[in-house]
Amino acid sequence: MSTETNTARAGGFILWFTGMSGAGKSTLSTAVRRQLEPTHSVEVLDGDEIRTFLSKGLGFTKPDREENIRRIGYVARLLAKHRVAVISAAISPYRESRNEVRRLATEAGTPFIEVYAQASLEALVHRDVKGLYKKALAGEIPHFTGISDPYEPPESPEVTVHTDSETVEQSVERILGALHQRGLLGSTPR
Ligand code: ADX
Repeated sequence: MSTETNTARAGGFILWFTGMSGAGKSTLSTAVRRQLEPTHSVEVLDGDEIRTFLSKGLGFTKPDREENIRRIGYVARLLAKHRVAVISAAISPYRESRNEVRRLATEAGTPFIEVYAQASLEALVHRDVKGLYKKALAGEIPHFTGISDPYEPPESPEVTVHTDSETVEQSVERILGALHQRGLLGSTPR
């Protein structure tokens, strides 16, 4: 038996965002974090930040993205085992990688809630907060998710938020609703 199994305690869970660049994963993570902080220890594992530290050196090929997600999943499980509400905000474009994280979390007794941050490509290109879509469309960024690299939407996420048509507040509400339904918002003494 692996050292990380069967040791999750009440209070810890993994809220796993998936969605294309600019779809709102970071914004929603920050907003959900704020809501959880009064009652939970919260940690956000943000794609951009993880790639600066934990996954420095990894690129955007399929194997590198899979490795990135494996690492985030591993850290998320360790934290959740210690009753941390973990929020992951990486594109995580491959269904199999996400399902593997879900499987390992579930095996460890850690609730796993997948949130699909969905927005039309048109909206993402239009918004283009980081200016990356423009570059990707010009062929300047190889393997860019949604343009020259795949994104596999989840088949049965616990929550889908449509960030091109609903407000941050509405999305947060629905995410908290899903957590509540799973009994994850109850009073959780640290
Ligand atoms: S993941 O696919 O491995 O989950 P991750 O979330 O860590 O991706 O990183 C995505 C971020 O890296 C994007 O928000 C964007 O800022 C940046 N980025 C740089 N190159 C790419 C690319 N080829 N595809 C997608 N995102 C990229």
